[in-house]
Amino acid sequence: MEPIRTIHVGLGAWGSNWATSVLAGHPEVDVLAYVDRDSATVARMQQRLGLPPERFFPSLEAAMAAVDAEAVIVALPIALHAPIAWQALEAGKHVVVEKPFTENLQEARDLVALAEARGLVLAVSQNYRFYPAPQMAAQLTRGAYLGRLASVNVDFRRNAFAERSSNLKIPHPLLRDMAIHHYDLMRLVIGEDPVEVSARTWNPPGSPYEMHPAGAMVFSFPSGVHVSYRGSWVDFGPQTPWGGDWKMDFEKGSITWTSRGDQPWPMKRDTVQIRRPNATMEEVALPEMRFHDRAGTLAAFAQAIRTGTEPLHFPSGRNNVMTLAIAEAALQSSLNGGAPVRLDSL
Ligand SMILES: NC(=O)c1ccc[n+]([C@@H]2O[C@H](COP(=O)([O-])OP(=O)(O)OC[C@H]3O[C@@H](n4cnc5c(N)ncnc54)[C@H](O)[C@@H]3O)[C@@H](O)[C@H]2O)c1
Repeated sequence: MEPIRTIHVGLGAWGSNWATSVLAGHPEVDVLAYVDRDSATVARMQQRLGLPPERFFPSLEAAMAAVDAEAVIVALPIALHAPIAWQALEAGKHVVVEKPFTENLQEARDLVALAEARGLVLAVSQNYRFYPAPQMAAQLTRGAYLGRLASVNVDFRRNAFAERSSNLKIPHPLLRDMAIHHYDLMRLVIGEDPVEVSARTWNPPGSPYEMHPAGAMVFSFPSGVHVSYRGSWVDFGPQTPWGGDWKMDFEKGSITWTSRGDQPWPMKRDTVQIRRPNATMEEVALPEMRFHDRAGTLAAFAQAIRTGTEPLHFPSGRNNVMTLAIAEAALQSSLNGGAPVRLDSL
């Protein structure tokens, strides 16, 4: 497959990691130009990547005028996702944008409509989809391996002090910025979209965060499945991998899984275990994945562009509107003291 000719926009904390660890050497993508408006950041990245200054631009507009790209990767702060993705789509480029998709649902719906009107691929990099454990959990659930699913418990525990996290001032660090990965994984593994969410959040004493970094949520799904979720960025207990610890209870047993460990071996923490009454625990063998995390997003993006068909688990913009809606519903609920919010009200 011919590599996709791209422009990469955003060389900040995460965007630079895209450039050095994901894009460099990805066989299905060629980066023709890098964009960042900050000249010091650009100078640093020129050196790190060992590339000539002609490959760097201060704006997407300048880069699009200079190189013949087919696609744009948007790794910018959330407020810029919609305007920059819009500019790229209007110029006829396919787009992959970092999570969370946009600041609000209307922006996301408008981008999806624009991409579809122009026949362009629009994707959101929900990189946690591209790990073996959630994909295996989805397969076992959909195949009713242990019968019908009844309920799911998810725990996410990290510690911002230990992480030396730079997200202390970010709006809604748990409900919008982090748990959006877990909302998206719920949809993937359960194979349904929730109908209702209630959320309570808090800021623990001593927390360095401006907005609530911890909370508990309940999600109701149309088949009667309930998910209970506990998450915290200021937890001193045993830390979970980024994907969280999951327990899925079925008619005939349970599946526990976890996913996305720390660098440099993020896949080593992916495990799936099956427990049935009066039986020894079964460790499920997980398949090797050629591309994982953002490399998986890019491979799926390239396939959708080149074949015109979305591969399995493809995080299209259209699909991602529901993930964003869950974040919106959770925020509304937490602002109203945990009152349930129906997804069809948004
Ligand atoms: N999927 C994940 O696991 C994950 C992890 C971390 C961050 N992210 C996401 O990545 C995105 C980027 O995060 P970050 O930490 O790199 O942000 P950041 O604030 O560190 O960097 C933003 C960069 O964009 C540049 N910039 C700002 N406006 C610009 C413009 N108009 N044109 C060109 N460049 C411009 C800035 O100079 C800066 O270098 C966010 O959406 C964040 O949610 C995702």
